Amino acid sequence: MLHSKITGVGMYVPETVVTNADMSKFMDTSDEWIIERTGIKERRFFKEGTDTVSKMGARAAAQALERAGKTAEEVDFILFATLSPDYYFPGSGVLMQRELPFRNIGALDIRGQCSGFIYALSVADQFIKTGMYKTILVVGSEIQSNIFEMSDRGRNMAVIFGDGAGAVVLEATTEENKGILTTKLHSDGSQAEELFLEHPSSNLKKRLNHEMIDNGAMLPHMNGKLVFINALKYFPEVIREGLAEVNLKEEDIDLLVPHQANARITVALQKEMNIPDEKVVSNIHKYGNTTAGSIPIALCEAWEEGRVKENDLIVLAAFGSGFMWGSAIIRW
Ligand code: ACO
Repeated sequence: MLHSKITGVGMYVPETVVTNADMSKFMDTSDEWIIERTGIKERRFFKEGTDTVSKMGARAAAQALERAGKTAEEVDFILFATLSPDYYFPGSGVLMQRELPFRNIGALDIRGQCSGFIYALSVADQFIKTGMYKTILVVGSEIQSNIFEMSDRGRNMAVIFGDGAGAVVLEATTEENKGILTTKLHSDGSQAEELFLEHPSSNLKKRLNHEMIDNGAMLPHMNGKLVFINALKYFPEVIREGLAEVNLKEEDIDLLVPHQANARITVALQKEMNIPDEKVVSNIHKYGNTTAGSIPIALCEAWEEGRVKENDLIVLAAFGSGFMWGSAIIRW
């Protein structure tokens, strides 16, 4: 039986560190408010002309490939998760494809927002299980610092999100009980407008106008309290669903790598599932919420710190805009 196994992890974050004190220069906020509500101390902002979503993805991918002992020529397919693509079209996957010496392989963008990396990983896993591809790059990359307005009007979301990219190399293996044991994916489109960016919209004759800019209609909207409530419902549910399918329990988890949405969400999830700090990866204080980038970045840092060991049970889980949520249960 073919399975897929993560054989390399990589990440890239832009150089520019923006602290909470820096944010308070642009808007009425404070270090105390941000830390208390989100756990975030600083985030990275991209440098125009140096960083693009696809280039950041390529840097993370190059590191993951090197660690997997693979060359770009050996990759069979690219899955690129982002909510902040370089262009409306074509997707960032093909833009990344030209950054490294890949062959003319397929490249598919995934629009799963905060759950984008799990969705991409799951799609990659199916391609490998069917034998269609042997080596797949799964990337999550975001530039979000220019989506939000650095003003009082934009402060409720601007302080939470940051820029960054992560990647993994997924390879086929026939080893029993190794690699991705299962993935679970869900969505509830009835809640789409609770966390969304409406404009520019293809629903309108005129996608973009001055009024949209003036009245803030081009800014994302988040119903923070509802997101919180739903995250706390679906994070544990989808983790338990995945574990149950492979006959494992919460206490079997060696390391939980949740989407870095908000430190308060992670703490509440830990409490609900009775998972101690040492079994949870949390790096949101350094990078904020990097959406599709957050899980591969957190996984990469945990791996670099020696927290991901052979045979460990690693659980990835995400919840976010859509609403979309998912989990991946991995025997490392
Ligand atoms: N700095 C200072 N004050 C602020 C800021 C800010 N950056 N943003 C909002 N405020 C103010 C509001 O204007 C409001 O003021 P008012 O009482 O005078 O009207 C006050 O703070 C409280 O605002 P709330 O929106 O009620 O703040 P809340 O305590 O709910 O915290 C937060 C907001 C952190 C977003 C919270 O709802 C939350 O944790 N939600 C979870 C959603 C989340 O984390 N989303 C990010 C990730 S999305 C994802 O990845 C799934």
